[in-house]
Amino acid sequence: MAGHVILIGLPGAGKTTVGRQLARRLQLPFVDSDAVIEERLGCSIREFFEREGEEPFRDVEEAVLDELTRGESCVLSTGGGAVLRPANRQRLRARGRVFYLRSTPEELMRRLRHDRTRPLLQVADPLQRLRELHGVRDPLYRETAHYVIETGRPSVATLVNMILMQL
Ligand code: S3P
Repeated sequence: MAGHVILIGLPGAGKTTVGRQLARRLQLPFVDSDAVIEERLGCSIREFFEREGEEPFRDVEEAVLDELTRGESCVLSTGGGAVLRPANRQRLRARGRVFYLRSTPEELMRRLRHDRTRPLLQVADPLQRLRELHGVRDPLYRETAHYVIETGRPSVATLVNMILMQL
């Protein structure tokens, strides 16, 4: 199997957790685009967001995604907003097999309960925010993905097997 395996979905969908195990099973490198972005920025995404705002972050994100999807085959976990720009959606879909890890806002909220690092969720009502993000982005994730994987009930190992069966 050549090419990248790309995971997309909202924060808390399990892209990093599933991606690490998937990479191990496929014996491919695991790459988390947010980690590469933070390395490049020399600070956390949260700090950069607070200092510079969202658009400058999206510029760096687009450049990093372009670079990573041209590079050697890997399992790539992307940030939740990776599908916002049409150019990213086209590139991701053209350069790999794209899996949308889909969850309800309520499930995401349960997983993110104790997480204070996600800048988009630093609001008074994070569940409401997740509902809005889901409403806007669900069609974009679907447009970008080759496969939709519902993450509600299955364990991480089962999700990994579901992805492996499609490759
Ligand atoms: C974002 C999600 C984050 C990170 C940034 C923006 C988003 O990644 O890229 O904070 O717009 O949903 P995770 O999906 O890994 O939390």
